Amino acid sequence: DKVVLAYSGGLDTSVIVPWLRENYGCEVICFTADVGQGIAELEGLEKKAKASGASKLVVKDLREEFVRDYVFPCLRAGAIYERKYLLGTSMARPVIAKAMVDVAREVGADAVSHGCTGKGNDQVRFELTFFALNPKLNVVAPWREWDIRGREDAIEYARRHNVPVPVTKKSIYSRDRNLWHLSHEGDILEDPASEPKEDMYMLTVDPERAPNEPEYVEIGIESGFPVAINGKRRSPATLLAELNEIGGRHGIGRVDMVENRLVGMKSRGVYETPGGTILFTAVRELESLTIDRDSMRFKDVNALTYAELVYAGRWFDPLRESIDAFMEKITETTTGSVRLKLFKGSVTVAGRRSPKSMYMQDLSSFEDSMMYDQADAAGFIRLYGLPTKVRSMLKRGI
Ligand code: ARG
Ligand code: SIN
Repeated sequence: DKVVLAYSGGLDTSVIVPWLRENYGCEVICFTADVGQGIAELEGLEKKAKASGASKLVVKDLREEFVRDYVFPCLRAGAIYERKYLLGTSMARPVIAKAMVDVAREVGADAVSHGCTGKGNDQVRFELTFFALNPKLNVVAPWREWDIRGREDAIEYARRHNVPVPVTKKSIYSRDRNLWHLSHEGDILEDPASEPKEDMYMLTVDPERAPNEPEYVEIGIESGFPVAINGKRRSPATLLAELNEIGGRHGIGRVDMVENRLVGMKSRGVYETPGGTILFTAVRELESLTIDRDSMRFKDVNALTYAELVYAGRWFDPLRESIDAFMEKITETTTGSVRLKLFKGSVTVAGRRSPKSMYMQDLSSFEDSMMYDQADAAGFIRLYGLPTKVRSMLKRGI
């Protein structure tokens, strides 16, 4: 029997390897996805995995796939969870879990395992993806089974099983990083009344310390997908990485929120999404030119459902896919470029243009034209306001 484990090289997943061997008597194949979390040294990781007792480590670079097939569709949809969260962790789980299903097939494993706790969202996202893509796989979630309760227990377990304890200094925060975002949870953040410490942040500078000069950046967009920065075409992952740099140095994209987890509890998290925050502004501004009122309303309403589905781990659900098909169609003409001004934590629009713009200068300006006759407005208002007038007459007994 073989099991594929989602492996990070940290203490928890290092302990899961001997635990799986001891409790399930199976061969453990470690899997690490590169989604832009900044894996320090991949060679060291393989050694580490083997020292923990894994038969091998499989690494896949999923960066382009992640941004192109997961991040950009969420961006195009305008998916934001509970008014603030740009879903960075939520959209990384399905791409990782999907790769695990592939690895399981490649190595002939009949089980998969992950190091998510039984109290969070991530376990749901992993497992719903496993269910959707291979319902026959067995799933092992050690955190829901074992009696290791904390860091001390884990170190003790490692010692007893002759597994080297990873030397990497454990941060006081629970963090998750990828190309789209970095999340922070735990420790002092558990009190929603306490302000995050400045030294917690890793992708963004303190807006107060950001440059005193604003920086302009121009985002090129084709059918709702970003394709260029300052006129230079970039692949999805390179574009996002570059924009993270730019946004990070201006302190853009910090979010501090209390959110409702899928498992019912509230939790406090702080997110850094510098490039993503810039891109959300860019797409929204371009849509103001290319999307009409009713379509925009319908899109926004569906973006809410879309975000909830992504948050809840239902990426491979036909409902998410169907809404995505709508988003693709409605943003067909969202092509053009947006110029943005970055300054001390803020992103403001400085200009937008689109070859598909519905904005017509002569239409909106005050000159009358063939397309618009002010006299028409009189009849329009009479009919449009008819119910208002009727209601008013009833109320007044006229
Ligand atoms: N609360 C966020 C979410 O549910 C972030 C979770 C971070 N996950 C982690 N393993 N540290 O998407
Ligand atoms: C975890 O519990 O594994 C991380 C937090 C989450 O999944 O929401």
